[in-house]
Amino acid sequence: MNVTHLECAACGTQYAAQRLHNLCVECGKPLLVRYDLEKAARTLTKESLRTRAADLWRYREVLPVESDENIVSLGEGWTPLLRAERLGAGLGMNSLFIKDESQNPTQSFKARGMTAAVSMAKELGVRKLAVPSAGNAAGALSAYAARAGLEAHIFMPRDTPRANIIECEKTGAHVTLMDGLITDCGAEVGRRKEAEGWFDVSTLKEPYRVEGKKTLGYELAEQLDWTLPDAIIYPTGGGTGLIGMWKAFDEMQAMGWIGAKRPRMISVQSTGCAPIVRAFEEGKRFADEFPNAATTASGLRVPKAIGDFLILDAIRASGGTAVSVTDEELIHATGEIGAAEGLFVAPEGAACLPALRKLLAENFINASDQVVLFNTGAGVKYLESYTE
Ligand SMILES: Cc1ncc(COP(=O)(O)O)c(C=O)c1O
Ligand SMILES: [Zn+2]
Repeated sequence: MNVTHLECAACGTQYAAQRLHNLCVECGKPLLVRYDLEKAARTLTKESLRTRAADLWRYREVLPVESDENIVSLGEGWTPLLRAERLGAGLGMNSLFIKDESQNPTQSFKARGMTAAVSMAKELGVRKLAVPSAGNAAGALSAYAARAGLEAHIFMPRDTPRANIIECEKTGAHVTLMDGLITDCGAEVGRRKEAEGWFDVSTLKEPYRVEGKKTLGYELAEQLDWTLPDAIIYPTGGGTGLIGMWKAFDEMQAMGWIGAKRPRMISVQSTGCAPIVRAFEEGKRFADEFPNAATTASGLRVPKAIGDFLILDAIRASGGTAVSVTDEELIHATGEIGAAEGLFVAPEGAACLPALRKLLAENFINASDQVVLFNTGAGVKYLESYTE
């Protein structure tokens, strides 16, 4: 076990490892896990990875669980990084990739966060977990909680894709549908958690989902033979994957695996809910709540993200940007990606393509750049988006 402590991402206050934590009690911002990376690097070597399991627990030394028996796994991570030759050729690019996260358990990248969060909850003796969700996080929490024999209490907007609702019910969760947005669901969890004895696993309001998600960054480097691409295009709601990758890059540099070069981190949102894009354009460090948030890409319907400053810091430090695309553009892009590459992608993942097109047109990205698009989920879970 290499965790030394937890640390507030905003004010730096330190917290003990192996205790239950939500937000920083000093300033209300997210906590991040810190490791003794020198110690981790003694056994976690590039060489050692050659023979490790094809899941995200291959990076065991930089993951927070102390005892192996507490790991709750469904085979998550180590998803393919697919070269998108045909799609790239249509854009004049020859080094375009798609990280296909739809191949995770419960068909989205949310499995990465939940395997870590539920394993830690189990290790720390939690029995009841609660989460507000746009859909995929709920499905993943339900599955991992069931696997661990824990209770899952799910709060989702009533108009969440049907597949997400049904998968939660079929994996034994207690499901509450609410009139409102994910922020309203989060407020409901906040109001009831104490009386009900629930542990709140809202993204970044507990410190371990981001640890699971950071493995996206480790995998990317390993799959590109310990280099990083020129740009990463990431569909951003709460931003946990982007924040996690950014953290992973620093950890890998500290372990001597990569140098100081970073990809340009590019956030994509829907024009119907683009708080990060707006804050980026206005030069703000924190994003105001986006009014009347609406998009068919349900995972992007996050009007206010607790990790907003971490997303914006990473985008700016990397020389990246934030782009919004219309729902029409992203729905159209699912057909283009599907026909070119054989992937039925989630609308969130599809949003990366029109964003890439805009950035190529503006010469922000060059056709010769190596670019990775993140397909964060499976199109098959969004039949309403494609048929209505
Ligand atoms: C398929 C999909 N893509 C992207 C997102 C946004 O992810 P993040 O909250 O890490 O920004 C979500 C979140 O629900 C999602 O389900
Ligand atoms: Zn703090």
